[in-house]
Amino acid sequence: MQASRNSLSFKTIEFKKSKNEITILDQTKLPEQEVYVSLKTVEEVYNAIKTMQVRGAPLIGVTAAYGLVLAANNKENVEKATSYLQSVRPTAVNLSWAIKRMMTRATQSTDLYNDLLNEADTIRQNDVFSCEKMGEHGSALVKNNAHIMVHCNAGALATSGIGTALGVLYAAKARGTQCVVYSCETRPLLQGARLTTWELTKNGIETYVICDNMAATYMPNMDLVLVGADRIATNGDTANKIGTCGLAIIAQYYAVPFYVVAPISTFDFTRVSGEDIPIETRCEDEIRRFNTKNIVAKQAKVCNPAFDVTPADLITGIVTEKGILRPPFNAAIERLVRNDK
Ligand code: MRU
Repeated sequence: MQASRNSLSFKTIEFKKSKNEITILDQTKLPEQEVYVSLKTVEEVYNAIKTMQVRGAPLIGVTAAYGLVLAANNKENVEKATSYLQSVRPTAVNLSWAIKRMMTRATQSTDLYNDLLNEADTIRQNDVFSCEKMGEHGSALVKNNAHIMVHCNAGALATSGIGTALGVLYAAKARGTQCVVYSCETRPLLQGARLTTWELTKNGIETYVICDNMAATYMPNMDLVLVGADRIATNGDTANKIGTCGLAIIAQYYAVPFYVVAPISTFDFTRVSGEDIPIETRCEDEIRRFNTKNIVAKQAKVCNPAFDVTPADLITGIVTEKGILRPPFNAAIERLVRNDK
């Protein structure tokens, strides 16, 4: 059996042509409430991405693509909408990648609305397909009863398909391979605690949540670490949720294989190393406040980078829809570019 989008009981995104609206699962309400909200304007799309009602690199790319369909329908200036949406979250390259594809289609278009809708549908369908393929390739890494550490949410909730890192687990399960997952809670916005536990347990995968500072304690018991990515440079350096680099360092110390799972749309062929990757800084209140309560002395300063870069030499392999890339990544990524053309 193969894991597929249809086997999941929720949809992260849907475009309703009859109403000209995007319906998204509001991820800020999880795990307590499964609430779907409608987006009808580019501004609403911008705010949904900014506030992380929709999040995860592939999913924000798909959402922005449909945002441009709304722009065309609402007779808004599509070019202006592209730069507006592109600025909303700077690290995940899937966002600018999807917007660039939409712009290319717009410049060749004779029927702007329908051409953009077709392109957005294609981007979404490719995402679904890529997730399934990554699952297929990555599931070979999962041994029966493996203990696997994950970080943030690189699951179905972060894509329009079965997910990247968590898609591997769904694919393994569909083949009859069981595993136990240790999900880092992922301060400050707790994607690991709120979202990963929600979708894994909903899909019958045994899951423990651990605080981020427990990773070193549990790492010696792990067989594998699986994470997603927001942008991968051509040398394999990988930007992902803050805390990923720390996990990779701990994994190397304990000789636990550390794999990144990401589609080709997450590779940035214009960046030669992680130093060139822009890192999003988010607002201080995400750290200063817990729910509505202040937890930091007012006089203290706060740092809140949303992502870090894991150096390529800490990465065992990168699972893509085209197969698993192995070091040296420069050469493997070069081959990927050539085959993709
Ligand atoms: O800030 P977020 O929640 O959008 O960050 C998401 C991550 O870092 C994921 O691990 C990454 O996007 C890969 S998701 C398939």
